Amino acid sequence: MFEIEKKVIEEAQQGKPTLLTTEIPAGAKRLYLESYGCQMNFSDSEIVASIMRENGYYTTHNLYESDVIMLNTCAIRENAEQKVRKRLTEFRKLKKSKPSLIVGVLGCMAERLKEKFLEEEKLVDIVVGPDAYRSLPELVGEVQGGQKAMNVLLSLEETYADISPVRLGGNGITAFISIMRGCDNMCSFCVVPFTRGRERSRNPETILQEAKELLASGYKEVTLLGQNVDSYLWYGGGAKKEFKNLTEEEKSTAVNFAQLLEMVAEVDKDLRIRYTTSNPRDMTNEVLEVMAKYENICKYIHLPIQSGNSAVLERMNRGYNRKEYLDRIAAIKRIMPDCAISTDIICGFCGETDEEHEDTKSLMWQVEFDYAYMFNYSERPKTLAERKYTDDIPEALKTKRLEEVIAIQRKLSLESNKKDVGKTFKVLVEGTSKRNENELFGRNSQNKVIVFPKENFKKGDYAMVKVHDCNSATLLGNAIVE
Ligand code: SAH
Ligand code: F3S
Repeated sequence: MFEIEKKVIEEAQQGKPTLLTTEIPAGAKRLYLESYGCQMNFSDSEIVASIMRENGYYTTHNLYESDVIMLNTCAIRENAEQKVRKRLTEFRKLKKSKPSLIVGVLGCMAERLKEKFLEEEKLVDIVVGPDAYRSLPELVGEVQGGQKAMNVLLSLEETYADISPVRLGGNGITAFISIMRGCDNMCSFCVVPFTRGRERSRNPETILQEAKELLASGYKEVTLLGQNVDSYLWYGGGAKKEFKNLTEEEKSTAVNFAQLLEMVAEVDKDLRIRYTTSNPRDMTNEVLEVMAKYENICKYIHLPIQSGNSAVLERMNRGYNRKEYLDRIAAIKRIMPDCAISTDIICGFCGETDEEHEDTKSLMWQVEFDYAYMFNYSERPKTLAERKYTDDIPEALKTKRLEEVIAIQRKLSLESNKKDVGKTFKVLVEGTSKRNENELFGRNSQNKVIVFPKENFKKGDYAMVKVHDCNSATLLGNAIVE
């Protein structure tokens, strides 16, 4: 018996409930949707769910009752792709016992591998890139008619602006709003410009509309998403243009990121705003000043450094050097002394010497990041780095360097949390603590998780919480009850 069939039987025997099943009308078709990778992918999955719902498909959490399985994939590092391949192999087994099952692969890996999935590997029935989700129902129809179906066209215009996402698997309190798509930056290590296409911004009116709808349905926090939010510029639609290249008429109505942030912050003072990701080469003081002006814009910035060495940054084509990055950090700390900062770091990029690696470590100590996401360099086909440089750092050395930066960050995160002991924060409650049902958890403005005894608070409330203890991942506190 296949492993997966055993699981079906076991789960059925346990009578495992499936979250969304009760909402599914009798006889409706069922879509099982799994997302990998970045927040943008999760946000895209909500668009996919909406497009499919319009066509009679309801999302289910139960793989085994689904008519269509879709995997929204990530191509950022090789191990992300390996995970997806493994999952697809499991689905292929499932399909053997249920031949009518349709399996689709969506997102960045679909865009990168295109027909390879259909022809060579015969793993799936449908392959759809990130700009082609509107064609999904049609493609499902083609597969039902006995064909394989693919649409991997990238677009200069598509922002799915008019689609109201179906909120999946969230807590009903915090939601993502996608404000732009694609990326034009061409960092030499990064596959995103190839898989997500050219940068384009979404109409701010539709962004505001989405924020208002979320607020009306009880949401308390929105995160504005883009690969490089600082270069958001709405001038009427279409591919990215620099402000200086706009016509006088376009200039008079254009909306940049700072202005968009302010517009969203004005929607309601109790609606919290976050955003990600900033890029050091584009982040303006204007944005920082808007953040400082509004209490409801969270004091947290994710500002990926990648490397602390200017020569490596040059090879990475990041468009800033160590000093320029540190200048941006100084501006954040000057304009918002209470702002938390996190970063991304890549270890073992092509040609990285011990000295260059030491520069990353010294920069970490200097900036004192509150949090960091750290990775081994993974060469990606088609990227500038793959064509121009040799992936010459042995895996073992990459990992040694990664372990060193992880150890530093663990200390920095603990130090950062220790500084918060004794302070009181406004916390948006996101749910019950996993460890103890008498405790709630939420985040403060700085994006730190705080756990505290329930009192009379519930999900969606704001609570003032005084921190009395911490570890490197969490703050522990008590709500101040009046
Ligand atoms: N601007 C994007 C970056 C997307 S990728 C954003 O919105 O977050 C997220 C992070 O993955 C990057 O900042 C980088 O640190 C890491 N990354 C990207 N390509 C990589 C590669 N080829 N190998 C290792 N890490 C990579
Ligand atoms: Fe990738 Fe650089 Fe854009 S990391 S997503 S090319 S900003």
